[in-house]
Amino acid sequence: MRSQIFCAALYAVQALAAPSWTSTPFNPPSIPLAVRSPYLNTWLPQGGGNALNDEWPTLWQGSVTGWVGFAKVDGTSYSFLGSASVDGVSFTKATQKSFTFTTTQSIFVLSAGPVDITVTFLSPVETDLVKLSIPFSYMDVSVASTDGATHSVQIYSDISGEWSSGALEWDLEWTTTTTNVVSHALTLVNPAQWEEVNDHIQYGAVYYSALNGKGVTYQTGRDVVVRAQFLNNGTLTNAKDTFFRAISYSWPVFAISKDLGKVGTSPASFLYTIGNVRDPAIKYILAGGATQSRSLYFWSKFSSIPQLVSFFLNDYSNALKTANALDQKVEADANKISPDYAGIVALSIRQSLAANELTISKNAQGGWNTSDVLYFMKEISSDGNINTVDVMFPAFPVFLYLLPELGQYLMEPLYRYQVSGQYPNKWAVHDMGPHFPKATGHNDGQDEAMPVEESGNMLIMALSYARATNDHSQITRYANLLDQWTQFLIEDSLIPANQLSTDDFAGQLANQTNLAIKGITGIRCMGEIWGLLGNKDKQANYTSIAASYVQQWLNFSASTTGPHLTLSYGDSASWGLAYNLFGDVHLKLNLFPKSVYDEQTAWYKTVANKYGVPLDTRHTYTKSDWEIWTSAIVTDTTLRDLFITGVKDYVSNGLNNAPFGDWYDTITGVAEGFKARPVVGGHLALLVV
Ligand SMILES: *[C@@H]1O[C@H](CO)[C@@H](O)[C@H](O)[C@H]1NC(C)=O
Ligand SMILES: *[C@@H]1O[C@H](CO)[C@@H](O)[C@H](O)[C@H]1NC(C)=O
Ligand SMILES: *[C@@H]1O[C@H](CO)[C@@H](O)[C@H](O)[C@H]1NC(C)=O
Ligand SMILES: *[C@@H]1O[C@H](CO)[C@@H](O)[C@H](O)[C@H]1NC(C)=O
Ligand SMILES: *[C@@H]1O[C@H](CO)[C@@H](O)[C@H](O)[C@H]1NC(C)=O
Repeated sequence: MRSQIFCAALYAVQALAAPSWTSTPFNPPSIPLAVRSPYLNTWLPQGGGNALNDEWPTLWQGSVTGWVGFAKVDGTSYSFLGSASVDGVSFTKATQKSFTFTTTQSIFVLSAGPVDITVTFLSPVETDLVKLSIPFSYMDVSVASTDGATHSVQIYSDISGEWSSGALEWDLEWTTTTTNVVSHALTLVNPAQWEEVNDHIQYGAVYYSALNGKGVTYQTGRDVVVRAQFLNNGTLTNAKDTFFRAISYSWPVFAISKDLGKVGTSPASFLYTIGNVRDPAIKYILAGGATQSRSLYFWSKFSSIPQLVSFFLNDYSNALKTANALDQKVEADANKISPDYAGIVALSIRQSLAANELTISKNAQGGWNTSDVLYFMKEISSDGNINTVDVMFPAFPVFLYLLPELGQYLMEPLYRYQVSGQYPNKWAVHDMGPHFPKATGHNDGQDEAMPVEESGNMLIMALSYARATNDHSQITRYANLLDQWTQFLIEDSLIPANQLSTDDFAGQLANQTNLAIKGITGIRCMGEIWGLLGNKDKQANYTSIAASYVQQWLNFSASTTGPHLTLSYGDSASWGLAYNLFGDVHLKLNLFPKSVYDEQTAWYKTVANKYGVPLDTRHTYTKSDWEIWTSAIVTDTTLRDLFITGVKDYVSNGLNNAPFGDWYDTITGVAEGFKARPVVGGHLALLVV
C-alpha cells in the first residue's frame, strides 16, 4: 500500500503540467466512464490530466478494460478513446478541448480536423427500481462540423476481453447477434460462480451493443486486424472470429462501426451500450444455514438479456432526460452550499451507487417476488466485505437524498440474518460476509469486531429511515433486535472498551470520545423508535439514560488543557473529528449541548491543514466523508466552507489517479489506499440536514 502511494506521488510530479483542455467543474483524480455496479466500474485515470485518448480506461482498481474509439473524417483517421497503437497503420489523436462531469455524465469534446466529436458517458442514476438495477451504461458519440462544410464520417469502437476477467489467461468465448440490435456477448469458457479474481467477477457476461441499421457493421477478431480493417476501410467486415481463446492470446476484440455519412453542423450520433450481467447475482444465507441465490431486480420485467439490451438502447432519450433533471436538481441543491460542494457531490453519486446491487428472489411457484427486495453493497477496495454496516452508515445520506427505500433494502439482509439466531454476538454484526457477492454471514461470530460502532450505526440508520419515510414496518419487525443492541450500548457506550471504530486503520483504542457519542446517540434513537411504536415508557427511559450519559460524557471527554473534546478520555492533548455528532444534528435530537458544537467549531479553526482537519492527533490523514459530516455540525459557515474547500482542493489537485479516495493526507493531499468506495455517498450529508 505504501509503495503505491509513493508511486502515485512520483507519477503526479511528472504529470503536473496543466491539461490543455478545460475541465468543468474541475479535473478529478479519475473520471467515471461506465460506473454502475461493482463490476461495471470503468474509469479514466487522471493524475495531472489524461485526455480520453491518452490512456486506457481501467476497472476502479487499475486493471485495463480495453476500450477503443476511432473516427474517420474525409478519410483521415483519428483516435478518440483509449491508447491503442495499430502496427503499420497511422492515425492521429483527436485533440481534447473540454471535459465536463455532472452527477450522471462525463462529457468529452475532442476536435478531429474539421469536426468536433462529443463523447458522452452516461451512467444512469435511477429511482425506478427496474432501471436502477440494470448494470449497463451508455457511450454516445456525436459528431458535428466546425467549419460549416459537410464531411464524410465513420465511427468505430471496440472492447477487449479484459472486461470479462481479472486474469487474462482465462479462456473466453463470444457470440454476436444481429437483429434490430448488434450485440457482442463475452463469456468465460469455465466461469466460476460467486468468484472474483483481482476484483473482477468471474462469471456472467459482458455485452457491447448498438442499434442495427444502415451503415452499421461489426467484427470480432484479433485487435490489430479488426482495428486496421476500420482504419484502412472505414467499415468492418461482419466477420465472426470463432477461434475462442484466452483473453490475452492474439487479443480478441469486439467492434461495432457506423458510417454517419455526410455530417454538417447539426450533430450526427451513434450510441453504444456496455453491460456486465450475471445471474444469479448474490448468494444469501437464510435461517438454518441454507443459502438462496438472488437475481437482479430487472428480471422482474425482462425475460432475456437481448430484450434488456434492446430496451436499454431504445430508452436512451428517456434516460438522458431523467439524468439531466437529476443533474440539475443536485447542482441546484448543492450550489446553495457552494460551487465547490456541488462538484464534490456530483463526483460522488455514481461512485457510491455503483457499489450496490438490488436483488429479488423467486417465490415458490418460480415467479419473481418483488416484495422480497434486498440491496447489497460491496466494500470496494478496503476489503470487499458485503453490507459492511460502518460503510453503509457513512454512505447513508446519498440514499436519504435520492431514495430512502434503498436504505431499508440495505439494512434488511442484516436484520433478517440476525433474527435468524445464527449470529452469536449480542451486538450488531459488522457485515454480511467477508466477500461480495457472498452474503453468507458470520455464524462463528468472528467478524471484524466493532460492537459499539455497528450497534449505534444500525439504530441511527433505523430511525433515519423511519423518519424520512414514515414507514415504520421495518422498526416494527425488528424492534426486539434493535432493543437488544440498545442494551449492549447501555453497557458499553459511555465507557467504551478497547475496540475498533470504523476508522480501523487507526487501530484500537479504549474510551473513544467520538465512539461514545455514537453509542449514546444510538440509545436515544431507540427511545425515539419506541416513541414511534407507541411505547412511551421505554421512550422515556432510554431518553433519560442517554441524557444522563451525555452529562457524564461531558465530564469524561473534556480536555483539561485546551477547549476541545479529546480523542479518548483522559488524554488531554488529543482531539479528533467528532463527526458522530452528525446524528444528533440530522435527527434534531438536541442531545448534546450547544456549547460542545461551539467549542469544537472554534477548535477546528486552529488545527486545519492545507487539505482539511486531520482525523485525529495520531496522524495527519483524514477522511473526506468525515470532513463533510463535520462541516455539517459546525456552527460557523466559514469553517463549514473550509472543510468543503479542503476536500475539493484534495480531489482536484492533480496528485492522485484513482477514483475518489476518501482517505488522504491533509498536508500532502495524496490519497492513502482507499479507492472508489461507496462512503463518498456521505458527501451528501449537507443536503439532508
Ligand atoms: C480493408 O483493409 C485491409 C487492411 O487492413 C485490406 O487488406 C482490405 O483489402 C480492405 N478491405 C476492403 C473490403 O476494403
Ligand atoms: C415474497 O417475499 C416476502 C418477503 O420475504 C415473503 O413474505 C413472501 O412470502 C414471499 N412471497 C411468495 C409468494 O413467496
Ligand atoms: C476509561 O475511562 C474511565 C473513565 O474516565 C476510566 O475509569 C478508565 O480507567 C478508562 N479506561 C482506560 C482503559 O483508559
Ligand atoms: C430502563 O432501561 C434499563 C436498561 O434496559 C433497565 O435496566 C431499567 O430497568 C429500565 N428502567 C425502567 C424504569 O424501566
Ligand atoms: C465530573 O467530574 C468531577 C471530578 O472529576 C466530579 O466531581 C463530578 O461528580 C463529575 N460530574 C459528573 C456529572 O459525572
